Amino acid sequence: MNLPLFPTPAHAVPRVEGRAKVTGAARYASDVRLPRTAYAYLVTSRIGRGAVQAFELTSARAVPGVLDILTHETVGDAIPQRPSLYAGGYLADSVRPLGSAEVAHWGQPVAMVLAETFEAAREAAGRVGVSCDEAPTAVAIDAGTVQKLEPMTITTGDVAAAFSAAPVTVDARYSTPTQHQNPMELFATQCVWDGDRLTVHEPSQYLNNVKFGLADQLGIEPDRIRVVSTYVGGAFGAKGFLTQRTALVALAARRLGRPVVLVPTREQGFTLSGYRAETRHHVELAADRDGRLTAMRHEGWELTSRADTLAMGAASMTARLYACPNISVRVNAVAADRSTPGFMRAPGEMPYGFALESALDELAVKLAMDPVELRRVNDTLTDPVGGLPYTSRSLMRCFDEAAAAFGWAARSPEPGSMTDGDWRVGWGCAAAFYPTYAGASAARVRLTADGRVHVASAGHELGQGMTTMMAQVAAEELGVSVDRVAVAIGDSDLPPAIVAGGSSSTASVAPAIMAACAAIRRRLDAATPAAVIPAMEASGMGAVEELAEIRPHGVAPDGMRALYRGQAGPAGGVHLPDRVQFALGAQFVEVRVHALTHEIRVPRAVGAFACGRIINPRTAHSQLVGGMIWGIGSALFEATEIDERNGAYINANLAEYLLPVNADIGDVQAIMVPEEDSAVNAAGVKGVGEIGVVGVAAAIANAVYHATGRRVRDLPIRIEHVL
Ligand code: MOS
Repeated sequence: MNLPLFPTPAHAVPRVEGRAKVTGAARYASDVRLPRTAYAYLVTSRIGRGAVQAFELTSARAVPGVLDILTHETVGDAIPQRPSLYAGGYLADSVRPLGSAEVAHWGQPVAMVLAETFEAAREAAGRVGVSCDEAPTAVAIDAGTVQKLEPMTITTGDVAAAFSAAPVTVDARYSTPTQHQNPMELFATQCVWDGDRLTVHEPSQYLNNVKFGLADQLGIEPDRIRVVSTYVGGAFGAKGFLTQRTALVALAARRLGRPVVLVPTREQGFTLSGYRAETRHHVELAADRDGRLTAMRHEGWELTSRADTLAMGAASMTARLYACPNISVRVNAVAADRSTPGFMRAPGEMPYGFALESALDELAVKLAMDPVELRRVNDTLTDPVGGLPYTSRSLMRCFDEAAAAFGWAARSPEPGSMTDGDWRVGWGCAAAFYPTYAGASAARVRLTADGRVHVASAGHELGQGMTTMMAQVAAEELGVSVDRVAVAIGDSDLPPAIVAGGSSSTASVAPAIMAACAAIRRRLDAATPAAVIPAMEASGMGAVEELAEIRPHGVAPDGMRALYRGQAGPAGGVHLPDRVQFALGAQFVEVRVHALTHEIRVPRAVGAFACGRIINPRTAHSQLVGGMIWGIGSALFEATEIDERNGAYINANLAEYLLPVNADIGDVQAIMVPEEDSAVNAAGVKGVGEIGVVGVAAAIANAVYHATGRRVRDLPIRIEHVL
């Protein structure tokens, strides 16, 4: 790659789509205005399980402007049952809305009103009467049906023997709550038919998944569907895969013979897509007196729906972070009467990391050892489970750089020993980790005689900086300035790209752009990027265009086909036959707990992250700082509150779902540790999208312990935990 390993300030290119966004020129899915558009509004279930007995629609139909009201009586089998992606399909969940009278969870759509205006549709939806037979529910993780996920079990050595022989052990249970992504942009969908061709405007992290999955549901050829997702107003996993709403809107548009737009409410968004499931953890650690781990157990329980079994299973990662000869990890899915969870920023790493990194701090306390030194004595360059090498690992460099920037050396280790007036001060740290993934992706690059470059890939601009990255890579590889590069993105008609998930976008698409640019250089016989424009001028050609497809290490030979079908997940992390790939980092926080009010504040946080090549330090920094702030939210604020009678989310709005605001966030510093890794992918990129959130909650819990002597093992940590 022609970009330097570590970028200079010149690479801190501002977002190329930034002006369009801040001036309002950027058009999101629901901003697209089409003539004769009808408006859809969902009616959702107010019971937790049961069946619709009857609808009373007279009053709703009488609202002026109402065009139609869809229920299971009108839709039924028009949208067939298809498997979720956890069962080899495309869908984020397999519960068919309006497929039958059956209600599987609170918030499930039971009717969709179509009207001439949004207001009429909403008014009529409020007048739809639904009577239901209500069945008993079990909605809490502690009341669900436990299913051991045997393939996620890992055992090495003789764990029981190591525990009986160990001089020091920790045995602790941790929990994390239901959390929702709450992207600012709602889960809008707009569908328009032109004859038998369908265009879908919908924010998406995986255009081809929507295209092929929808074709499968509607029973039409995928090439009749175009999915446009020019801008995505935040996603964080919630827009990763096709949800059931899209087929409903497509069906409604076909029935009415006019475009239909659905903008669900914020509350409806809580059950239309996935979320971070609540988890439980049992962690046991054994160590010798020097702090060397001799055994570990980590068992996780993750809530899922009755319809779909999924679990993030990140015990496969906590098992591999530190040298340890005897390891036993297990994962359980716990089915309850809830909507299907899904992926939320570092979906498994955040909760499993909270458990492990809290337990390590408990071990450090028992050993009277500095928690940084505990990580150091257990550092490893080899995966302790499979004996495979890490492609690169800079964990202790991250700890050392973050510790120095934080001033960790001045810490007095005794809990409660640091105060500032009425504030009890605590300092804590924890490791951050995220596996390095990449997926099959394609890119088309076109260089024209006037020295302009067009880059196209069906990637996804979620606000993370994808467009800017694409422009930078093409500019660097073809020796032009970034402002000479135009980027086409967010359209399924473009060369396909992998899901914008798993922090894999740059690692997947950058190599495809690099390969296309290299092909252009070969065509022009230009040895270096600097030789490209002179060679182009000398060639007399009007344009040179190349399409490149990249199949990364670990993607099966049929990976390109799976990619084109929208079913390819990124590969890598701990799932490679010959190595493991991780980005690693260290989180340090200062917590202040007020002696009288007991309020908990985080005035400062320092993270250091080694994520391979950083292409744009500005957007990467934003990702890391954003992740860290999310971690503070995860630790101290965020929890979706559940009505135990019916699974209703009772704070499904931005007023009552607590998020950190500016006044909650102090000084947040993200240090990017230079790291060279030529094995992960051709770009040497490990990804920065998710690692920033990992470890923050543990660092905060550890700092709360240091401030107060109170070990809090359940998130979010609130005043009542430290009274
Ligand atoms: Mo991310 S939770 O992999 O979209």
